[in-house]
Amino acid sequence: MDLTSHSIAQEEKGTPFVFLAAILAAVGGLLFGYDTGVISGALIFIRQKFALSVFHEELVVSVALVGAACASLAGGRLADYFGRRATLLATSIIFMTGAALCALAPSVGALIAGRIVVGVGIGLACSAVPVYISEISPAPARGWMVSLIQLAITLGILGSYLVDYGFSSAGGWRWMLGLAFIPGLLLGLGMIFMPETPRWLMERGREEDARKVLKKIRGDANIEAEIEDIGQTLLLAKERGRWADLLAPSVRPALVIGLGIAFFQQVTGINTVIYYAPTIIQSAGIPSASGAILATAGIGLVNVLMTVVAMWLMDRVGRRPLLLIGTAGMIVSLGGLGLFFHLPSHAGASAALAVALLMAYVASFAVSLGPIFWLLIAEIYPLRIRGLAGGTAAGVNWACNFLVSLTFLSLIQAIGPGNAFWLYGALAVASWIFSYYLVPETKGRTLEQIEAAWRERLAQPAA
Ligand code: BGC
Repeated sequence: MDLTSHSIAQEEKGTPFVFLAAILAAVGGLLFGYDTGVISGALIFIRQKFALSVFHEELVVSVALVGAACASLAGGRLADYFGRRATLLATSIIFMTGAALCALAPSVGALIAGRIVVGVGIGLACSAVPVYISEISPAPARGWMVSLIQLAITLGILGSYLVDYGFSSAGGWRWMLGLAFIPGLLLGLGMIFMPETPRWLMERGREEDARKVLKKIRGDANIEAEIEDIGQTLLLAKERGRWADLLAPSVRPALVIGLGIAFFQQVTGINTVIYYAPTIIQSAGIPSASGAILATAGIGLVNVLMTVVAMWLMDRVGRRPLLLIGTAGMIVSLGGLGLFFHLPSHAGASAALAVALLMAYVASFAVSLGPIFWLLIAEIYPLRIRGLAGGTAAGVNWACNFLVSLTFLSLIQAIGPGNAFWLYGALAVASWIFSYYLVPETKGRTLEQIEAAWRERLAQPAA
């Protein structure tokens, strides 16, 4: 039976409305990126204001990551149960509440509570946004459309650097944290007018509603074939959307890939650069704080620009070539960074070389593990457990993020920056091998074709 012969032609079509829906949902990524970047600058002033102990300082930073990890795990389940759109609306309210709590916090306790709420908002966004965009996108455009999330993350990071810089002379940490209210509001206002995804509606047996949405997002294309594909896929699906189904034989290979890429995206060290770039740059030989901050902003800009390049290439050359070439670039630049820090007093090598290597590393991440992680976890799972499985991968990603950020400074003290970068480089080699052998190409295929391919693989006797 050919489930898919007509679907590619159908799905080529997309109306401007679907692009608007994707952009609005991607604002969820802005929340994530902004919060990732803003706290480092705000912390300097918060420390003074509340005379924070080191323990409290670590709490202020890390409770948001822990909140995000837990909420991602729960958020996927919520997105499957209540719908992608409802979860995003809840995300917006939670995030606005968190931002307001942080901005108005009268005490450290209130600030920590606000940071937990913000973390929960980010976690929910991470599990619902990729799935939402993936399920409304036309297949040939799904790569770049889901990568809008990564673009929003990188813009959020860059924006936060600028906001930190802008408010730093006045010590305006409340503004730095409070401005996060704006993307929260944007997400909520946007989602009020955007529809639920047709795939979730079909899963709930609401075929008529799904048809209405498809009309809006595919225009005058013959949407019946897409309805039929989704319906057939649901008929064949064995999973029922419970935690235990994550281990079902039909899901296991995809689960391993999602969790593996979640792990490798973080343990190859990206956030040591995002969080600690000024420190790394200073230790490479640029002593002035303003020089280090300028170089950091340059790195943030490279991150944004190379994400745009990745979006342009994602549906043209495919996910696998980008992943493998980008990871190879990460290996080479991490090797170079390790070498740089091993040279005795850097043997006259200029600090500009270290900055160039950092930029090459971030550029390589931005075309590979950065966007492709968020894309894969939204497209490789069967519909019935898509939210749950994607949310689990996002939760693991946050947990690894937490672990790496927490251990980076002690790792540098214990083994030195050179060996630390080599360690991340070795993990990047493992990531390359993992991707080479396990990650499938999903370019141009509908979500239903991807789901059918896993099932066919399972049906074939092992060679
Ligand atoms: C990662 C974040 C990281 C960001 C950097 C995202 O894909 O999940 O942890 O801070 O990329 O651009």
